[in-house]
Amino acid sequence: MSRLIVISNRVSAPKGQSAGAQGGLAVAFQAALREYRGIWFGWSGELTDEFTGQIHFQREQGVTTATVDLEEQDVEEYYNGYANRTLWPLFHYRIDLAEFERGFEDGYQRVNERFADTVRPLIEPDDVVWVQDYHMIPLGHELRERGCKNRMGFFLHIPWPPRRLLSSLPNAAHLVKTLLAYDVVGFHTKEWLEAFQDYAVQDLGATLEEDGTIHLGDRSVRAVACPIGIDTKEFVEAAQSPTARLTYRRMRDSADGRDLIVGVDRLDYSKGLEERFLGYERFLVDHPEQRKEVFLLQIAPPSRGDVESYQRIRVQLERISGRINGAYADIDWVPIRYVNQGFPRHVLAGIYRAARIGLVTPLRDGMNLVAKEYVAAQDPEDPGVLILSKFAGASEQMHEAVLVNPYSAEEMSDAIVQALAMPKEERIRRWRALMDGVEKQDVLWWRRCFTHTLMGEGQALEAET
Ligand code: G6P
Repeated sequence: MSRLIVISNRVSAPKGQSAGAQGGLAVAFQAALREYRGIWFGWSGELTDEFTGQIHFQREQGVTTATVDLEEQDVEEYYNGYANRTLWPLFHYRIDLAEFERGFEDGYQRVNERFADTVRPLIEPDDVVWVQDYHMIPLGHELRERGCKNRMGFFLHIPWPPRRLLSSLPNAAHLVKTLLAYDVVGFHTKEWLEAFQDYAVQDLGATLEEDGTIHLGDRSVRAVACPIGIDTKEFVEAAQSPTARLTYRRMRDSADGRDLIVGVDRLDYSKGLEERFLGYERFLVDHPEQRKEVFLLQIAPPSRGDVESYQRIRVQLERISGRINGAYADIDWVPIRYVNQGFPRHVLAGIYRAARIGLVTPLRDGMNLVAKEYVAAQDPEDPGVLILSKFAGASEQMHEAVLVNPYSAEEMSDAIVQALAMPKEERIRRWRALMDGVEKQDVLWWRRCFTHTLMGEGQALEAET
């Protein structure tokens, strides 16, 4: 059996965290890698004065991790720069926030070359290499340059932007062409897949076959859509754990008979938190009779704090939540509990279970696993209602959620009213249908969906959308 070499910017995640607290990718791999004999390679998260390529090996729960330290300038240009100030905003349709600097691009290229130099000696001829996310797009190409003939796949965990938007990235064509070094390229949704194909065909002049294979010059790459899931069984168990039960009680007690609306997101402008607060305010203004019947708990652990746009959104959210609380709170009620810290997954599972509404309204999101965790944590006999942005990748699968346009405060307000008034039978019916999907297309299914195509073990499972 071939070994699997997984490569991603972040490698180890603190155990016991949830998708909302740390980003879904790390959570997915904690589960997916357990089964594989292989290596997980990436940045250690640490800095060094001078890059040496020295690898730190660690073995935990059957997974070997191999990490390297980076120089401060590397992190500044590659991670804070090109990854998080250029690609992230642009790929999330925020061209207004995207910064184009040659220094970032050079640093991104340099770090990818450094990763390639470092990981190359670890790769044996039969290994299958699976590179993750926007930090590492050119890595496969760099590995090929270093003589790597292995099967290689790439998975993008964020949206792929429409062609015209991507064209605003200097050297976009070059970056996209490096993807042709892989054998398989994966996306979470058909929408991102089609946008990629559109760019390849229209801007690069590639040809596209019916099975998703793209040909350009002497290269062919198969592009597929495989929506990621959660470790559903494990999360259902987490929601019934003693910690979750305790948290559930604590939430219920502090709710004092009011309905809890919950949001859990990294503090990121793509998550639509500002719009969410404004939509909730619209609800408070339009439905004064329901004001003290509900409260919103927004958990938002700070993220990428070295990047200015993240500092700005943080200040902005403090301002809006403070204003809303100042304007509508009473001596015994506060409309928004705004919490800037992450919580362990068992605690979050208890909070999700106690919440009548899960409010997941990103402006754009590759997938969004909080939506799936919220569903998995519900009590089957009295489930809450998921309100989901139609711009989250998850909306391609989760049709039975109450789907909203997160830019419309009125739609958000109407959705809250609808969810609060929803009869139990309808809540159960919608939840059952959502849960079927979350159970069937879990993280294991996702891994197989991609690796079967990559390893050529027959046909990939067809994504049910
Ligand atoms: C998203 C990305 C991941 C990333 C995560 C957390 O989910 O797709 O690649 O790891 O956010 O962001 P961070 O910058 O803290 O790794």
